[in-house]
Amino acid sequence: TDGPADGHSGDGTRRRDFINIAAVSFAGIGAATVLIPLVNQMNPSADVLALASIEVDLAAIKPGQAIKTSWRKQPVFIRNLMPKEIAEANAVDASSLRDPATLAERTKEGHNNWLITMGVCTHLGCVPLGAGEGEARGDFGGYFCPCHGSHYDTAARIRKGPAPLNLHVPDYAFKSDTVVQIG
Ligand code: FES
Repeated sequence: TDGPADGHSGDGTRRRDFINIAAVSFAGIGAATVLIPLVNQMNPSADVLALASIEVDLAAIKPGQAIKTSWRKQPVFIRNLMPKEIAEANAVDASSLRDPATLAERTKEGHNNWLITMGVCTHLGCVPLGAGEGEARGDFGGYFCPCHGSHYDTAARIRKGPAPLNLHVPDYAFKSDTVVQIG
């Protein structure tokens, strides 16, 4: 008789049906993962905001003052260093630091008083204090992260606490003595 053969063939058909359904489902997921980036590309406001550079007028930032601004949806600190703070940064042996760098390497020639960094702690991403009005500046006169106690100096270099790296310096250029373009 051909009974057992039919039974076998019946199982095989069901198995193929299952495999076909599975393939269709995966194709569906694949289409969705392709579609989501396309939809995001069609939302220009988010992307334009993320890529745009910004210009900041520095004229109102007095020596010793700092401001917080925002670029690519992240905080940026812009600080006008006083001569005393520049001297403090330059007095440090950069090679002894956790993330060795001189103030000159972290600023632009002729504009070494302008310290421009991301306001994002390199430990776990909190916003350090010291750029806002009346905020404490920590043990080394720079920025202080309240989350786990990282202290950055007047060149925003990591000096104490768990953060592994200095505050990141973004790409920027001076358009004039008082206007800087970030990004
Ligand atoms: Fe700044 Fe942990 S996030 S010290």
